[in-house]
Amino acid sequence: MLICTPNNSDQMTPASFLDQIVCGDVLKVMQQIPSNSIDLAITSPPYNLGINYDNHDDSLTYEKYLEWMKQVWLETKRILVPGGRFALNIAPTSIKNFTPIHHDFSNQLREIGMIMRTEILWFKQTMLKRTAWGSWRSPSNPHILPSWEYVLVFSKDSWALEGDPRESDITADEFKRFSDGFWYIPPETHRRGHPAPFPEELIYRLIKYYTYRGNVVLDMFGGTGTVAVVAQNTKRHFLHIDISENYCKIAEQRLEAAKVIQELPISTGKPGSKIVIRKDQTPRYEKLEKAQRELVLQNRLLDERANYLTKSI
Ligand SMILES: C[S@@+](CC[C@H](N)C(=O)[O-])C[C@H]1O[C@@H](n2cnc3c(N)ncnc32)[C@H](O)[C@@H]1O
Repeated sequence: MLICTPNNSDQMTPASFLDQIVCGDVLKVMQQIPSNSIDLAITSPPYNLGINYDNHDDSLTYEKYLEWMKQVWLETKRILVPGGRFALNIAPTSIKNFTPIHHDFSNQLREIGMIMRTEILWFKQTMLKRTAWGSWRSPSNPHILPSWEYVLVFSKDSWALEGDPRESDITADEFKRFSDGFWYIPPETHRRGHPAPFPEELIYRLIKYYTYRGNVVLDMFGGTGTVAVVAQNTKRHFLHIDISENYCKIAEQRLEAAKVIQELPISTGKPGSKIVIRKDQTPRYEKLEKAQRELVLQNRLLDERANYLTKSI
């Protein structure tokens, strides 16, 4: 894997972009990806809310922002294989100036000919921390605060994605659980210096549900590399794009750590130290099935290893 800023004139080849972290502007990089080469794109775009990402102006006019996003959707459609999927995570924005950005995006994507398959409701239960009630206990102007986000899912040209059935690795239990479109997944708490990272569980579900082993998964606004890490862990290929060199470096460290952990599943990277699963951190741990316990353990190891690597740099 390498960090690079490709030059505008070169077209990438599948060999040159598989399992790469590419640090550069989304459109410039996407324009170099060959058509019909990505099986699943998953992303959460910058929200244009003036969020302090490392290296990006997040405060365009809304019209300019939508125009920019439309260019990204057009490139996404071009590079997806027929039947390839696009999972777009988006939250309803702002309370007072409510903007139904998820409607605007789904309209744009349908206008360019993408098939809208579904919308998944990612319930985060963040209400406990709320302060903005509007007119408290009065109908004069009370506020509704969304405690969820959407994952809008689209297909290019066809509903079905061709693939070798032997490379389908979702279990019956996972298939049943993920097919219910109401997903309760707590938000990511381990931020690694990023304002809006994905929880790994969200990406795990999308990758297992919508791809075969060996498929290529892209995140064009990859941030700290959650999609790349989960793709690697689940034996898919990845392509990660982000404009921030800092986030790309964090993504690279996470991938490296995940690889080490997969190769040495009982090592924390610290000689002699043993992982202890603290019940307060994982209250439901005792009730989990074996495969889920391993996942919890693996995530914990991943975080431990990432901390260790970050501290030692
Ligand atoms: C909502 S965040 C994605 C976070 C990611 N899902 C994660 O798990 O870390 C949006 C990302 O878009 C990146 N970004 C903003 N403008 C960009 C551009 N023009 N080209 C590529 N990436 C850009 C930001 O650096 C930020 O990391």
